[in-house]
Amino acid sequence: MRSEQRTAPVRPSEDGEAVTVTAVAHPNIALVKYWGKSDERLFLPRTDSLSMTLDVFPTTTRVRLAPGAEHDTLTFNGAPATGEARRRIAGFLDLVRERAALGHRAVVDTENTVPTGAGLASSASGFAALAVAAAAAYGLASDATALSRLARRGSGSASRSIFGAFAVWHAGVRGGTDEQADLSSYAEPVHAAERFDPALVIAVVDAGPKALSSREAMRRTVDTSPLYEPWARSSRADLADMRAALGRGDLDAVGEVAERNALGMHATMLAARPAVRYMSPASLSVLDAVLQLRREGTAAYVTMDAGPNVKVLCRRADAERVAAAVRGAAPGRAVHIAGPGPGARLLDGDAR
Ligand code: DP6
Repeated sequence: MRSEQRTAPVRPSEDGEAVTVTAVAHPNIALVKYWGKSDERLFLPRTDSLSMTLDVFPTTTRVRLAPGAEHDTLTFNGAPATGEARRRIAGFLDLVRERAALGHRAVVDTENTVPTGAGLASSASGFAALAVAAAAAYGLASDATALSRLARRGSGSASRSIFGAFAVWHAGVRGGTDEQADLSSYAEPVHAAERFDPALVIAVVDAGPKALSSREAMRRTVDTSPLYEPWARSSRADLADMRAALGRGDLDAVGEVAERNALGMHATMLAARPAVRYMSPASLSVLDAVLQLRREGTAAYVTMDAGPNVKVLCRRADAERVAAAVRGAAPGRAVHIAGPGPGARLLDGDAR
C-alpha cells in the first residue's frame, strides 16, 4: 500500500446496520520463490521470498456485513463459491471475526479478472483484496504490515500483494509462541533502482486446471524431496543477490537469479516422491525460445510457478519482441505483457 491510499478502518456498526467496503488487489509473481511451509495453520514459510506485483488482472472484492444472517454468502464472478474456495474464504472470515470480536456473517462478492487457469496466483490477489476489505468492514488494524500478516493467513503469497512493485516476505522466527511467530512473518516493500523498468511476458501455455494444488505439492516436496533443503539454502543466497541486483537496477542479474531460483524449485519437485511435474512440452518450447533470445542478445529470463505457464522477465523496451518469440514457440496460446503494479487498496465510494 502507498501512504496516500486509504487505510483507515471503517468502524463496524454496533447497532447492526450494514457496512459495505470494496478493495482491489493485483497478483504478484515471485522472483525468489515461496515453496514450503514450516507451519501450515499459521502459513509460515520456510524461506523468505521476493516478488513483483503486477499491473494486470486485478481482483475486486466487496464485503458487506450481514447482521442477523446465519451464514456467509460468498460469490465468485457472480456464481456461488463452492468447495475448497468456499471453505478457505469462510475460514478466513472466521479468523477476522475472532480478532474483531464481532460475529456478524458477511456477504462477499469477488470479481476476478485473471483469465481462468492462467496459473497467475489468483489466490494472492484474492486474499489480499479480501484481507483489506474484511479488515476495514470488521474494524481491524489496517496498517500495511498488519494487513500483510492477515492476508498471509488466507494464502501465503497474498502477504506480498498488499504492496506494489517489489516486496519481500519474511519467513519470520520459529521457536516462540504462535503469536510471536505470527507477528514476525509479513511482507514489506523492497527498493529497486529508479531506472529499473522491467516487463513480464506471460505465456498461458495451458489454461486447464492444475493437476495438483500448490499447497499439496509444496507439502510433498518438503516431506520427500532430497533436494528441498539444498534449494532452501541456496534460496537464502538468491534473496541477497536479488536485493542487490534490484538496488542496482541490473535486469540481467535480476533475471539470472529469478531463473535459477525457479528452475531449482522445479528440480526439488521433480525429485519429490512421487515426482511433481508442472512443466509441459509447451513450457519447454518457451524455455528454448528464451534461450534463443539470449543467444541473439536480448535479455530474457524465465520463471514458473505451480503450473506449466511461463513468465519471461525482460526490459520493457523488449517486451513486444519477447512476446512475439513466445507466440512463435507456443502458437495459439494467449500471451500477456505486465509491468510492476500497485499495492492493495480500499476503493472510495461505498464505505460508511
Ligand atoms: C509457486 O501462496 O498459492 O506461486 O500459501 O498454500 O496458499 P498457499 O500457497 P500459494 O503458493 C504460491 C507458490 C508459488 C511461489 C510464490 O508465489 O512464491
